[in-house]
Amino acid sequence: MQYVHCPVMANEVLSFLNPGEKEALMVDCTLGEGGHTSLFLARYPRLKIIGLDRDSRIMEKARTRMAPYGDRFEAKNIWFDQFWKNYEGPGVDFILFDLGISVFHYEESGRGFSFKREEKLDMRLNTEADLDACDVVNDYDETSLANLIYNYGEERYSRRIAAAICKARQTKRIEYTNELADIIWDAVPNEYRHRRIHPATKTFQALRIEVNGELDRIEPALEGALRALKPGGRIAVITFHSLEDRPVKWFFKNRENVLEILTKKPVEPTQEECEMNPPSRSAKLRVVEKLENERDPAKKRNKYRD
Ligand SMILES: C[S@@+](CC[C@H](N)C(=O)[O-])C[C@H]1O[C@@H](n2cnc3c(N)ncnc32)[C@H](O)[C@@H]1O
Repeated sequence: MQYVHCPVMANEVLSFLNPGEKEALMVDCTLGEGGHTSLFLARYPRLKIIGLDRDSRIMEKARTRMAPYGDRFEAKNIWFDQFWKNYEGPGVDFILFDLGISVFHYEESGRGFSFKREEKLDMRLNTEADLDACDVVNDYDETSLANLIYNYGEERYSRRIAAAICKARQTKRIEYTNELADIIWDAVPNEYRHRRIHPATKTFQALRIEVNGELDRIEPALEGALRALKPGGRIAVITFHSLEDRPVKWFFKNRENVLEILTKKPVEPTQEECEMNPPSRSAKLRVVEKLENERDPAKKRNKYRD
């Protein structure tokens, strides 16, 4: 089997979440093809991992990859926020989130995540969900479309793009990635077409976030994960854009009474990694450790006053 996704900041994550020779339980909340998980299982001989992914196809790839590790690995096809909401298992030592989607989704899934391929607009991780990207593009009203492209894509030409989409769909439903990419290309000013990223990049990101409810899942998942974490246990989160990173950063900052932030500044990939694995370029890694005892909030205030 071929694996197309290269795990981001693997060495850094392996050192922050390090059980050594001890028995430990880890949850990889974003299993993907299992790039991180396979490295952890190979490096730490008494570590057990539960891997979560809402996409059953990529999860099956990971399951095959992890077969040599027998019962040290278990895969669950579930949204990570739902997993933590209902979690009643044993305390967890390490938790990893590597947010967003995998290279597999752009290159192999056939679900229209990339404007570089001619595919049906779908973008669902859960292929049984009712809403797909085609529904969003064709059925949302112009204001809702513009708002979502602005809010989830941080796209400055959101209004023009939404207007162009609504005009084009009066003639026929927009069903394919290349149709949508062409509409966006024509909607933006000429100078915007020749920048580092394609003018459709941000709109495609926004659609994917909307279809999978990506941002709404982060905080509830962190809340549940922190509850399940053992004192002394660690959570690592890798984000790829500011819309993901901001809620993670504030979630941790607002809970400094129960956790220690181990990465005062987020860790970023080395230049060498960025060159070898360009999708890692925008990654940020934040790691926290759950305190043995809750901090006295008065002490925390003093710390900042000094
Ligand atoms: C960036 S990839 C993970 C790559 C993986 N760490 C590796 O090295 O192979 C993120 C994965 O998480 C899954 N995913 C994203 N959001 C999710 C969520 N809220 N719940 C469950 N799975 C999710 C995606 O389907 C994707 O396979």
